[in-house]
Amino acid sequence: MGNFLAGKVVAVTGAGRGIGRAVALACAAEGAKVVVNDYGVSIEGGEPTSEVAVGVVKEIEAAGGAAVAVADDISTMAGGQRLVDVALAEYGRIDGVVCVAGILRERMLFNMTEEEWDPVVATHLKGTFTVFRAAAAVMRKQGSGALVGFTSGNHQGSVAQANYSAAKGGIISLVRSAALGLHKYGVTANAVAPVARTRMSANVPMELKEIGEPEDVAALVVYLLSDRARADSVTGQVYTVAGPKIAVWAQPRELRAGYAEGGGWTPERIADFLPGTVGTDPMPMLARLEEMARAAAAGDRPNQ
Ligand SMILES: NC(=O)c1ccc[n+]([C@@H]2O[C@H](COP(=O)([O-])OP(=O)(O)OC[C@H]3O[C@@H](n4cnc5c(N)ncnc54)[C@H](O)[C@@H]3O)[C@@H](O)[C@H]2O)c1
Repeated sequence: MGNFLAGKVVAVTGAGRGIGRAVALACAAEGAKVVVNDYGVSIEGGEPTSEVAVGVVKEIEAAGGAAVAVADDISTMAGGQRLVDVALAEYGRIDGVVCVAGILRERMLFNMTEEEWDPVVATHLKGTFTVFRAAAAVMRKQGSGALVGFTSGNHQGSVAQANYSAAKGGIISLVRSAALGLHKYGVTANAVAPVARTRMSANVPMELKEIGEPEDVAALVVYLLSDRARADSVTGQVYTVAGPKIAVWAQPRELRAGYAEGGGWTPERIADFLPGTVGTDPMPMLARLEEMARAAAAGDRPNQ
């Protein structure tokens, strides 16, 4: 057992399986008391069971740590509030929240139904808001705290998961907004884009060139929750972690600008001006898609 998080209380959503479970175990091993949330659902979000969260609490206790289970659906305001209420009732404070819970409902955009869109956006994006909202109210008064959201490389765009990609992009903007809004209260907010072997990544139809274990992701999350990250002013960041690799994503910014001379824009003037000046910023994902199509045509298994 280490002491990176000694004395802290951390709540983790989706902590029953995969990356969330590794995060919960690592937080407990580093001295935190942990609220383990998991609705215990299938990859698509059905058939909930409380056994999944309870199982991880038992694992933490068996290793000598302290934890409590909350099996609520985190996409509800009541679920997010309960997570924080349980932390306060059991342990008296909340120092960190980590929103890992997620589901997938894959479908091409032109076939996607409301039943495929809404629960995915609700679990990922609203499920991060419900917890950040409840925790931020306490952390603001405490004058300290760390919020961690989970995004994905797929926030750049996705062929058959527009719902998931949109939610993951939204989480990045939510994290940056939390970093800005809570900065003066001593609260940090960061996002993690993991690549790790879990039941969810087993669903990806291509070979992942860079992938690691949930434990690699957990180590980064423990750092982000720690006083060391706070001392290093780490906030408003998006980090990829894939096995031995950690990468930081760029902050969004304007790439090139052009100005109209002598009056406003018309479509005609823009058509003459834009291509040779402001231009476009090529999509890396589109280039990769074309590469994959070529590999598939040549009979190779596409890489990502
Ligand atoms: N595994 C990867 O390589 C990878 C890549 C990119 C992003 N991610 C993201 O990392 C996170 C964890 O993914 P994972 O691979 O460990 O998935 P996983 O399916 O193994 O675990 C997700 C957990 O979330 C729980 N959950 C789902 N809906 C919930 C709800 N409404 N309330 C509470 N809990 C709920 C599930 O029961 C499950 O235990 C997800 O947000 C995922 O989108 C993972």
